[in-house]
This record gives sequence, structure tokens and C-alpha cells, in this order.
Amino acid sequence: MQNLDALIAEAKSAFAAVTDPDALEQVKARFLGRNGEITGLLKALSTLPLEEKKSAGAAINRAKTAVEEALAGRREDIKQAALKARLAEEALDVTLPGRKANKGGLHPVTLVMERIEALFASIGFTVADGPEIEEDFYNFTALNTPEDHPARSMHDTFYLLDEKGEVAQNVLLRTHTSPIQARYMRAHVERYRDRETMPEIRIIAPGRVYRVDSDATHSPMFHQVEGLWIGECVSFADLKGVIADFLRRFFESDELKVRFRPSFFPFTEPSAEIDMAFMGGASEGRWLEIAGCGMVHPNVLRSAGIDPEKYQGFAFGFGPDRLAMLRYGINDLRLFFDGDLRFLRQFA
Ligand code: DAH
Repeated sequence: MQNLDALIAEAKSAFAAVTDPDALEQVKARFLGRNGEITGLLKALSTLPLEEKKSAGAAINRAKTAVEEALAGRREDIKQAALKARLAEEALDVTLPGRKANKGGLHPVTLVMERIEALFASIGFTVADGPEIEEDFYNFTALNTPEDHPARSMHDTFYLLDEKGEVAQNVLLRTHTSPIQARYMRAHVERYRDRETMPEIRIIAPGRVYRVDSDATHSPMFHQVEGLWIGECVSFADLKGVIADFLRRFFESDELKVRFRPSFFPFTEPSAEIDMAFMGGASEGRWLEIAGCGMVHPNVLRSAGIDPEKYQGFAFGFGPDRLAMLRYGINDLRLFFDGDLRFLRQFA
């Protein structure tokens, strides 16, 4: 039957013309729906004479099956195409390199300060702290450096302006960590005021300090680590032992020499500069100045309310920046403070 074959071909091309499932169902209705063309042909059978009915019915049913199969095939094609499109859209290239998490790291000077703290903690020192904007009194006066003392001029620093824009009296950016000694001693005396004997003071105080200074080995902001040990029988011999032992542990080497060179600080008597030298290697015999130290001056103890006849001890002030330069072999201090990540990443 010519027109049935044409009908099948028409249905196939109509199915092929649509690409989404809803449109396909619309097209299906046109052929197989209640008012569809095939349904119409089946309905018309009743008008045929009996002998034609049989063969015409069979032919229409074959055509119906063919159209249904074509529909099912197209449905499947559309489904597959949709799946393929979705897979393409959500594709993950598992061969792409992963995104690295950016890990932070500690600054080399921080690493060195933490190392110093840990080494002193192992011999019973606790960490103390103090303000960077310091009172003139703690920075100088309490440390046996009265107002007209010439030692103040070595510590020319950054002054602060008050609300009126004038140089603020009595406050400055601290020039050293030594004021932490003065603050701690006072607080300690206060804490144990009711006791007959006061426990030992054994502190380490790291922090930033400021001075008007700038070249390859000086920076207007730098770091110090202050140490203080006060007790009933703390001697200069203890100071030498503590420092020498610390330096050997810090540099993980017994191959270094330490010397105490007489010096002056208003807050210690006697005072010394600590020099060290590595034995062997390229720098053999070159003495490097790394700290100031001494026995705490009786005036400093007295000013804090401590009886110098009963208690005494030593103090020292290290430059951890200098220790970091030695430990890592760096020859320009400014590298630490330029914030160049190419430099800093090497320590992370
Ligand atoms: N504060 C001194 C300075 O900045 C360093 C120093 C010297 C600290 C002797 C001390 C000390 O505790 O006893 O130059």
C-alpha cells in the first residue's frame, strides 16, 4: 500500500526533525494520538467491505508497529544525545595539575626568636612582654639613666606627637627591650610583697625596638631579646655559663669561642659586650659582637624595690637579627625587612 509506506516515511522524518522529548510527544500525537492519522485509518476500516477489511487492517497494523518502532528509536536517540551533551558539559579533566594550597611560613627572625625562647625555656626562663610605645621612665630613668645622662644620646629614637602635634613628653618608641626588665621586676615585687623571700626572676623578653639608624647592619626597627635572672646568689660566672651554653646550643656547635669584653651600660655594673667567633671555616678568628650584658646595677634593683644587699643577678640583650644573619649566612640585615617573598620563601 503506497500511501502507508509514504505515511511511515513521513512519520520517520517528522520524528527526526525534533530534538527534545516534549516536541517528540507532540509529533507522536499527530500519527498515533486519538485523532492521529493511523488511528483515523483504523477507524475508517469499519466502512470497508468485509473481504477488504482483513488485509487492510493487517497492513495498517504493520504500519502502526513501524511508526511505533521509529518513535521508540528516536526517543532513545534523543535521550542518548542529552546524556552525551551533559557529560560533555560537566566534563572534568582529571589530567589537569592540581591547585596548590599556598602555605604560609614564619619569618626567619621569628624562627630565630622562637628558637631562643625554646632554648631558654629549657633552663627555666619564662617569656615576658612589654609595650613598644614606652614611657620615658621605663626606657631610661628606671634603668639608671636619668634625664641628663649622656647615654641617652646613643638611643636617639622616634618620638611621638601628642594631639596638639607637639613632641609628646614621657613616651617614645622603646629603644631597647631593657624596660621590660624594669616593668617585670616591679610587678614581681608587687606580687610577692607579703612574702619574706621572693622567688627568683628568670625571664626572656623578645620584641621590636626602634632607633634612628639605617645601613647594611642597622635598621630603624630591629629586634632584641632581653634576659634577666635575679636571685639570692646569681653571679657573673652563671652569666658566662648560661650565655656560652646557649650559643653552643643555638648554633649546634661546640666549635665556637665566646668572650666577654668590658663595656659600659648604665643599668649594669660591671658591664660587658659578648663576642663570639667560630673555630675553623672561613670566618676563623673573626670576633662578632652579639650582645650586651652585665650584673644588674644596684640602682636598678633599688628603683624596682629589690634590696641589692639580698638579691643580685645578671641581664643581657641579644640582637636576634644578627643571630639570624649568622645562622642563615645573610650579609645584609635589610633583606629581613624588605618583604621580598623570593627571599622569605626560602625559610618557609
Ligand atoms: N639594652 C642594651 C642596648 O640596647 C643592651 C643590653 C646591654 C641589655 C646590657 C642588657 C644589658 O640587659 O645588661 O644597647
